[in-house]
Amino acid sequence: MSVRIRVNGVERTLDVDPEMPLLWALRDVLGLTGTKFGCGQAFCGACTVHLDGQVVRACVTPVRRADGHAVTTIEGLAPDGNHPLQKAWAEMGVPQCGFCQAGQIMTAAALLKKKPKPSDDEIDQSMVGNLCRCGTYPRIRAAIRKAAGMPENDR
Ligand code: FES
Ligand code: FES
Repeated sequence: MSVRIRVNGVERTLDVDPEMPLLWALRDVLGLTGTKFGCGQAFCGACTVHLDGQVVRACVTPVRRADGHAVTTIEGLAPDGNHPLQKAWAEMGVPQCGFCQAGQIMTAAALLKKKPKPSDDEIDQSMVGNLCRCGTYPRIRAAIRKAAGMPENDR
């Protein structure tokens, strides 16, 4: 079956098994390796991308679900790679090993689109499904606040 997906603004036609996880279509077929494989079971959030602007776990989303829809990955978040979150992430030195960070940023981007000035509780609730083995959570929260133009706090 061929699947037509608008990936980061570009129409792509993929000749793949419709049950293939979207994650493999992105990484192995399209070479977009910014989206990571962590648990493969929707537990960790490393594979988070946007499907029509909503966060999805690409590891458990069959590629057929994206047929006729728009997918955004970390590579396409901003045309120049300079999304306010990406800038805040760099300025605050958020990543440690970096493995979880694309997923973290994609979840945060969806949050800020819905809620440009989220409360700390809203940040925590939105980010709870994105795990970080390096424990960068305080800096992630601070970077989201910075990208949202909110003052830093000491949490
Ligand atoms: S790899 Fe998809 S949620 Fe962990
Ligand atoms: S930065 Fe290492 S897992 Fe999050």
